[in-house]
Amino acid sequence: MANNTLTITDNRTGKSYEIPIEHDTIHATDLRKIKVHDGDFGMMTYDPAFMNTASCKSTITYIDGDKGILRYRGYPIEDLAESCTYLEVAHLLFREELPTQIQLDEWTKQVQHHSLIHQNIVNIIDSFRYDAHPMTILISTISALASFFPEANNIFDAEVRKRQIRRLIGKVPTIAAFAYRHRTGMPYVYPEDDLSFVGNIASMMFKWGSRKFFSHPVLERALNILFVLHADHEQNCSTSTMRVIGSSHVDPYSAIAGAAAALFGPLHGGANEAVIHMLDQIHDIKNVPDFIKRVKAGEGRLMGFGHRVYKNYDPRAKVIKKLAYEVFEVTGRNPKLEIALELERIALEDEYFVSRKLYPNVDFYSGLIYQAMGFPVDMFPVLFAIPRTSGWLAHWQEMLVDPDQKIARPRQIYLGHDKRTFIPMENRK
Ligand code: SDX
Repeated sequence: MANNTLTITDNRTGKSYEIPIEHDTIHATDLRKIKVHDGDFGMMTYDPAFMNTASCKSTITYIDGDKGILRYRGYPIEDLAESCTYLEVAHLLFREELPTQIQLDEWTKQVQHHSLIHQNIVNIIDSFRYDAHPMTILISTISALASFFPEANNIFDAEVRKRQIRRLIGKVPTIAAFAYRHRTGMPYVYPEDDLSFVGNIASMMFKWGSRKFFSHPVLERALNILFVLHADHEQNCSTSTMRVIGSSHVDPYSAIAGAAAALFGPLHGGANEAVIHMLDQIHDIKNVPDFIKRVKAGEGRLMGFGHRVYKNYDPRAKVIKKLAYEVFEVTGRNPKLEIALELERIALEDEYFVSRKLYPNVDFYSGLIYQAMGFPVDMFPVLFAIPRTSGWLAHWQEMLVDPDQKIARPRQIYLGHDKRTFIPMENRK
């Protein structure tokens, strides 16, 4: 290829600069040589919310937003959702390869071995008010895990990292389920080795006496598919948060607590909960046109629609929409589905949404399935955080061993006061 560089002419000085291009990007620090005066700091880029900034190089997940493509380690998400268990996919994210049956059995045993939580952690969960949001309980309790495993600070010891990864994949579902049981006042149910990863979550949340917790194998398969779809999504807000916090070399428990906090936001992982509240607010299909009108007038957002990267249908939403029909065959149709389908029908043909390339994202239909399966609405972001734990940890590990990575510390454009004379208290007005 001809000269793989960018020539930039600074019209303030008439000077030209050759900036090398790598992977269709330039190193932002190469711009620092562009100056008017020798003493200048040099050129920076201004990119609030990182709309067009690559923060790292990664080999974990690939997204093509225009084509609606999502692949984990090169495998299309549709194939993984159809054929893999969540722990198989978690293995793929960490080890770059799909596990053999022997490797999967060993990995499953390791995760299950770490699914119990210390009684002191149970006491922390017990200390929350009965009506505490389960995400708040999850975030705080994951952070507290750091105090139980001080070895986790040895982040450059690969074996220590692996042990923390197994502990977090194993313990986050237990903490999540206990947060739910705490709120309902029901006794805790502990994980059982003969249950699947998702089967244990349902058991720890819903088991009551001999009552079955998954009335139908379709529901267990559906939860597994939802977990596969939510496992990773490259540099989303919470994963970027994981990388930024991890770049200070803090332990992974503290970093994941921060990532989960970012996920809790209604624009991110809290959107699945917000979609249900939106559907409840609309209440009846006849109110959809008026709701759409208000969204177009800027009075709120169509939650579950739009995406920073996907300017096409989120491939996960396609899988989830199809899955919803399979689940409703077993649970009965969620009445909110009609409202959701009407919202989608209108939005996909309305200029406001079409011109902004707003399509259903992963959160638009997932909540309808969770609700039909009996999960309470405020558990939805928790059901997002559980599978995303493997994505967060895979990126944390990749960041730690990346020679390009240093502590994250962005710059700013300062527009505040110039130097001012101090005003003693007696002279202040
Ligand atoms: C997830 O990043 C990831 O990968 C996240 C995720 C993952 O797996 O980790 O995919 C999971 O978080 C999915 C997104 C869930 N959030 C929602 O469903 C909340 C509703 N959606 C949005 O608020 C919004 O679409 C975002 C936050 C998802 C993306 O926002 P952007 O890229 O910053 O886009 P924007 O806010 O600049 O909007 C561009 C335009 C604006 O209109 P104008 O100012 O140009 O007139 O589109 C409009 C916005 O008002 N717009 C919407 C809209 N989303 C964007 N208008 C109505 N309803 C919406 N949902």
